[in-house]
Amino acid sequence: MRSLLCASQLSQEDIRELYRLYKSFKGGERKSLEGNAALLFLESSTRTRFSFQLACESLGLRTYYAGRHETSIEKGESFKDTLLTLKALGFKVVIFRVPFTIYPCNAYEDLGISLINAGDGSHEHPTQGLLDLFTLLDVFGTLEGLNILYVGDILHSRVFRSGSYLLKMHSANLGVCGPRTLIPSDLTPFGVDRVFDHVDEALEWAHVVIYLRLQEERFKENYIASKESYFLQFGLTKERYQKVKTYFMHPGPVNAYVDIDGELIHSEKSLILQQVEKGLYTRMALLYYLLEY
Ligand code: CP
Repeated sequence: MRSLLCASQLSQEDIRELYRLYKSFKGGERKSLEGNAALLFLESSTRTRFSFQLACESLGLRTYYAGRHETSIEKGESFKDTLLTLKALGFKVVIFRVPFTIYPCNAYEDLGISLINAGDGSHEHPTQGLLDLFTLLDVFGTLEGLNILYVGDILHSRVFRSGSYLLKMHSANLGVCGPRTLIPSDLTPFGVDRVFDHVDEALEWAHVVIYLRLQEERFKENYIASKESYFLQFGLTKERYQKVKTYFMHPGPVNAYVDIDGELIHSEKSLILQQVEKGLYTRMALLYYLLEY
């Protein structure tokens, strides 16, 4: 029984094998697993939820879904007791998205059931980190020396927390840009090489850009003056699009005219739908790796 709660649980060897499996699934290889998978999504999701469901079913796992307000967590049951209940029911794996932080990363290691973190609060989203890494490896071949820029709400981003670890592991240079109110005061744990206040300067440095959504549902105070001013100061406008050297990415969902001009979301330089497609194969690879190896 193996789990993935944080990106830092993955070694270079794990990632090499996951990327090999990902490419084989993308190339049409079929492999199968048996058993039941619980999808416990206490926060909303489109791409993570459906791609995990498709990944499970493509591999032969039966899926059972519960969303917000649909479990006894509503009645005060702990998350740990919920996992033990699902284990007692014979589930092979629980894929969960929760509004709170799971820490430490081996918190539930002794429960004897495989767990996959599909996003915990502002903490981690390891499969998004993996699919972003695989998208970049597919496009660039190697990340060594590549300047990768995250723009937006770094403070609340679980995508950044998982992705930065994996990208640094592959020798990329990391930059961040956003309102200072939305940048963590200590960036040391993430290995950030450059912090930019001005996105136009940052775009001159970056080889590729990852835009992040403003996580307004997690805002505890007014971090920005307005969405309109944020878009003008940091968003991907038509003028800035010309400065994007290669491609831009976004984990989704995109807030049009806040993160990115609505007409540019699926433009030539956008890898957004490629990220979604590759997410399916990434999740198939992870499920197979955790449950079968
Ligand atoms: N990237 C991501 O986690 O998107 P969803 O919230 O739609 O799953």
